[in-house]
Amino acid sequence: MSEVKLVAKPGEVQFPKGLEGVIARETTKSYVDGQRGRLYYHGIPIEELAENSTYEETFFLLLYDRLPTEGELEYFKSRMVQYRELPSEVYDYICKASSRYNDTPMSVLRTAVSMLASFDDSAEEDSLPAHEREAIKITSRMATITAAIGRARKGLAPIHPRPDLSHAANFLYMLFGEEPDPYYARVMDVILILHADHGCNASTFATLVVKSTLSDMYSSVVAGIAALKGPLHGGANQRALRMLKEIGEPENAEAWVLKALEKKRRIMGFGHRVYKAYDPRARILHDYAVEVTKRAGTEKYLKMAEIIERVMIERLGKKGIFPNVDFYSGVVMSSMGIDDELFTPIFATSRVAGWTAHALEQRVDNRIYRPRFVYVGPEIDHWVPLEERVKPEKEPTPFTPLEKLV
Ligand code: ACO
Repeated sequence: MSEVKLVAKPGEVQFPKGLEGVIARETTKSYVDGQRGRLYYHGIPIEELAENSTYEETFFLLLYDRLPTEGELEYFKSRMVQYRELPSEVYDYICKASSRYNDTPMSVLRTAVSMLASFDDSAEEDSLPAHEREAIKITSRMATITAAIGRARKGLAPIHPRPDLSHAANFLYMLFGEEPDPYYARVMDVILILHADHGCNASTFATLVVKSTLSDMYSSVVAGIAALKGPLHGGANQRALRMLKEIGEPENAEAWVLKALEKKRRIMGFGHRVYKAYDPRARILHDYAVEVTKRAGTEKYLKMAEIIERVMIERLGKKGIFPNVDFYSGVVMSSMGIDDELFTPIFATSRVAGWTAHALEQRVDNRIYRPRFVYVGPEIDHWVPLEERVKPEKEPTPFTPLEKLV
């Protein structure tokens, strides 16, 4: 019997690694113009939304593909408010898990969202009204979970949501225990708007892969959180701020970054798969950082960041490497008194709007995601009895580490 040849040699079949440039589906939600450094949600430039919109309105836009009328917006906000509170079991879990060293805030967020499904009778219902309801519920509740995690990490009891505050203001209230200054509430609103959606990024794609199997909205969002957690995606903002703290003073910044580049280290908060120009969200956040650091007396972090930006653009700008959204968001949030370990959960608290909007779009026009691998392993082989097996002298290296992250 002749054996079928299954094998390709490594490198023999050309394909875009990391699915670069591959089109996953059509969308009406957002468009990233990476060459010009522009971002649009349903055709509206991000700058206009950051200046004029609110997170609630932006979420409506992403879900329903148009801006709401006044009455629609009021009703939509009331639906979000209605779902803010968490089951007591979820608060209990957050408090317990947050005191354990190994449970990072993103892990706690991931598990807490998963738990929410157990308290939702319609979690498994596969209808568009149910998916839409889950989208609003999960988006509303993730802010409560993130604030509770922030407090629990400090041994503080959670603060229950207030119905009279906006999504952003209520988040700061639940985190700090006092009604925020309106300027900071606005800055938080802008941060949430800027992170709400971004084309077919890794976490949105992960959400869609799960949704395309006709799994439920909670499971889809959990996949998004899991993908966002990684340092190459949402985890970069925390590392970018830690880098500034490590550098310490503006006069150290230039030498520090040059040395890091010499050692081929990746500078967190720079580079992007799609943007080969300045990320427009970073520009907006930089401008907010000017005022926020002035108010907080933390200008030195902004100064360091600006020096690093200059050096990086001088060295790597021609390669299309510029600051991304994660670079200045940390400076802004830490100056508002938010701990760096909460940056990525806050990113998720915003991006859930995009995840759920895309998941609904996927459900309406679904086909399961099922790409292929190129098999480059051994030719067809045969099973060998245990007693005849010999351990190889040298194991193949299972994984080559990426160059060191900063
Ligand atoms: N610092 C230094 N060099 C970089 C950086 C960086 N931050 N980013 C990319 N490069 C270099 C790479 O070393 C590579 O150089 P080479 O061609 O000489 O080998 C080249 O630029 C291309 O890099 P890739 O890794 O192939 O780019 P890719 O599109 O796969 O990755 C990514 C994009 C993951 C964002 C990358 O730029 C990176 O690791 N950045 C740092 C992490 C970060 O800030 N992530 C947040 C992204 S935005 C977001 O998810 C919200």
